[in-house]
Amino acid sequence: MKNIQIDIKNTNGFVDEKVVKSYEVSVKNVNEMLHNGSGKGSDFLGWLHLPSSITESHLSDIEQTAKVLQENCEVVVVIGIGGSYLGAKAVIEALSDSFDWLQKERKTPVIVYAGQNIGEDYLYELQTLLKNKKFGIISISKSGTTTEPAIAFRLLKTQLEEQQGKEAAQKLIVAITDKSRGALRTLATQEGYKTFVIEDNIGGRFSVLSPVGLLPIAVAGYDVRKLVNGAAEMEKVCGLNTPFDENPAAIYAATRNELYRQGKKIEILVNYNPKLHFFAEWWKQLYGESEGKEHKGIFPAATDFTTDLHSMGQWIQDGERTIFETVISVENTRHEKIVPFNEANLDGLNFLAGKRIDQVNKMAELGTMLAHVDGGVPNLKISIPALEEYYLGQLIYFFEKACGISGYLLGVNPFDQPGVEAYKKNMFALLEKPGYEKETEAIKAKLK
Ligand code: PA5
Repeated sequence: MKNIQIDIKNTNGFVDEKVVKSYEVSVKNVNEMLHNGSGKGSDFLGWLHLPSSITESHLSDIEQTAKVLQENCEVVVVIGIGGSYLGAKAVIEALSDSFDWLQKERKTPVIVYAGQNIGEDYLYELQTLLKNKKFGIISISKSGTTTEPAIAFRLLKTQLEEQQGKEAAQKLIVAITDKSRGALRTLATQEGYKTFVIEDNIGGRFSVLSPVGLLPIAVAGYDVRKLVNGAAEMEKVCGLNTPFDENPAAIYAATRNELYRQGKKIEILVNYNPKLHFFAEWWKQLYGESEGKEHKGIFPAATDFTTDLHSMGQWIQDGERTIFETVISVENTRHEKIVPFNEANLDGLNFLAGKRIDQVNKMAELGTMLAHVDGGVPNLKISIPALEEYYLGQLIYFFEKACGISGYLLGVNPFDQPGVEAYKKNMFALLEKPGYEKETEAIKAKLK
């Protein structure tokens, strides 16, 4: 089997290859810090050897639990926010038929998401959709106390119990949370739900290869063993003993850090396949939450091409030169489609007749890359052979490992997220949560 590849030659002219190579020693040092746990945030390195340490019995448990939900549900609601839903959604969307929810003959439940926002209309519409449907819930929260998923769970649990009865509902709810702490753990124990543990040393954005990602992905009908095997392969490839030139995570981390030092403050993750839209959302969280601290860090953005070439294309080609792009290039599509010949040729497209749609897409990709490089936008390319579980597993681990290396090169703790608490404090103060009396008083005074 092939592996994902990185190509940085289109950063030439912006970043000298020798300069990237000069990171070899510092990358080796920070990679060692990850592996010997001597760096910042070392309590959260559970993801590092996760792929190679997942056991057969754990995978069987995931698969059996998924089977119960598959056999009993038309719809499964995955409740979670941030790292507790983005990884599952990224993989499921990448592997699914684009019109999945419209398929009538389904072998697996439709997967929908809740608790990732506080949209009243969203929840109303979801509950309306679920009325009289056989549905199940996977409730995911490491802390077990996050407001958004807790609200969604409160609503949907009640609905499920009303529709199915308490006893049946209990079998259709799975909780994924801390092993002993948090409201979700207490509730799960009290109600007797099937549970999976999120280990203390795995942070939300690094948790897709834990039950947080694996269970929803398995319920959606995808092969979690292949996903884990792909990740395990990358664990080896990006390991401590791989020479710098052969380690894609090392090259990616070094190149983006050097670009950042040269004023390229924004990285745009580009895809030419709409199935990767949510993969980019997952990536944005991984890098944004890991590196954006101490008033430092590349701003992670994302675009879907060619769609966004008709909106953001102008800015990227001609706007402020503070950006670089990382293109995820999918080598092979799942299906083949040819541009048809048309006698009248009123649209002038007969020059494309007989060509694969993907050939047109690939020329758009190449043409855009050349135009953007000419326009002053360095381009990195990550090639993935196909959107399959095995390669997505590789891509996930590659980005995780590179993120750890990159964060340490930047000099931050890539594994904490102190900044996400500020909005919560204000929200609780405004909502007059018990225990927030002082903050409520202060925020009211501020708003006067
Ligand atoms: O990466 C993170 O740590 C966050 O995005 C969390 O995953 C998110 O805030 C949800 O937290 P929890 O799983 O505790 O509900």
